[in-house]
Amino acid sequence: MKYVIATLPGDGIGPEVIEQACAVLDKVGQRYGHSFEFKEYLAGGVAIDQVGEPLPDETVAGCLASDSVLLGAVGGPKWDNLTGDIRPEQALLGLRSKLGLYANLRPAVLHKALRDACPLRPDIIGHGIDIMVVRELTGGIYFGASGRRLGPHGEEAYDTESYSVMEVERIARTAFEIALKRNRLVTNVDKANVLESSRLWRSVVIKVAEDYPEVELNHLYVDNASMQLIRDPRQFDVIVTTNMFGDILSDEASMITGSIGMLPSASLGKGQFGMYEPIHGSAPDIAGQDKANPIATILSAAMMLRYSFDLEQEAQAIEDAVTRVLDAGCRTGDIMSPGMKLIGCSEMGRLLQEAVELLQPSEN
Ligand code: IPM
Ligand code: MG
Repeated sequence: MKYVIATLPGDGIGPEVIEQACAVLDKVGQRYGHSFEFKEYLAGGVAIDQVGEPLPDETVAGCLASDSVLLGAVGGPKWDNLTGDIRPEQALLGLRSKLGLYANLRPAVLHKALRDACPLRPDIIGHGIDIMVVRELTGGIYFGASGRRLGPHGEEAYDTESYSVMEVERIARTAFEIALKRNRLVTNVDKANVLESSRLWRSVVIKVAEDYPEVELNHLYVDNASMQLIRDPRQFDVIVTTNMFGDILSDEASMITGSIGMLPSASLGKGQFGMYEPIHGSAPDIAGQDKANPIATILSAAMMLRYSFDLEQEAQAIEDAVTRVLDAGCRTGDIMSPGMKLIGCSEMGRLLQEAVELLQPSEN
């Protein structure tokens, strides 16, 4: 099969990690008989610099004409003082909403080889952490009415949290479908003790759950959930939550795996189309120095193979390659620990390509 992938390298370490992910995809293609055509578009700070806006129409059109999208990272100190619509982050928000990507999947998995990087005590980690955060991505306070106005005490600013039944229903369905393929437990996270939008949210999740009798559903308020993630992360399988709570909890979940440089994400809508990106940012402090960890982006490419192209075996081959290279003791700076071998971004990419090539099919 031939697949067209729009690449949006973006800013900072984005271009370096995207280069390695494309090389690994090419290797997968050679080995399993697929071809991937990469078409690069501008997004983020680099787009502001070159064409004056973070998300040019050409980029949106290019993404829509592709089978899926692979994004590096956007933003950096250079653009921090811009306001409103010409911030690099607007590229991300615009892509999510224009491409209809309402479901954000953020797995937080602790690799066995990286246990030392986990800041939690071994008795808390137990046999490991494997959580899937399902974050609503095109609604809530990120997209509600906002603005400035004159109040009784002078200038005010406001943002609005608002959810429709339809928006909650579809994200809940995504979460339950994913839970069916995992450990069949969904934890809904909201703030229903305070927010009306959360009360609607919770009632819709409960309704959708009726269609999934095999899946257990429980509920946590977001403050408690943030505590439980650290107290006992093993109690979670799938977490479903709003845009903003998901933003916060997914960072927390990534931190307890000790390695934000390792975690991929998928943003999906209706159908197979999706946008895939590492959870980490553009890391301007190490950009262009061949120090970045490309694994999060490479694992994002694996998610693309699984969710957009239905290539499970090929996705698994990439994930096995990552395990193999970590088991061999190779580490980029962010996951380095004593006794391991420190390598750069391009060397990590090369080793992963090699591992994809050498892994026996039976191991895949
Ligand atoms: C994320 C990021 C974005 C978000 C920012 C950069 C707009 O934090 O993807 O988690 O808040 O969604
Ligand atoms: Mg975030």
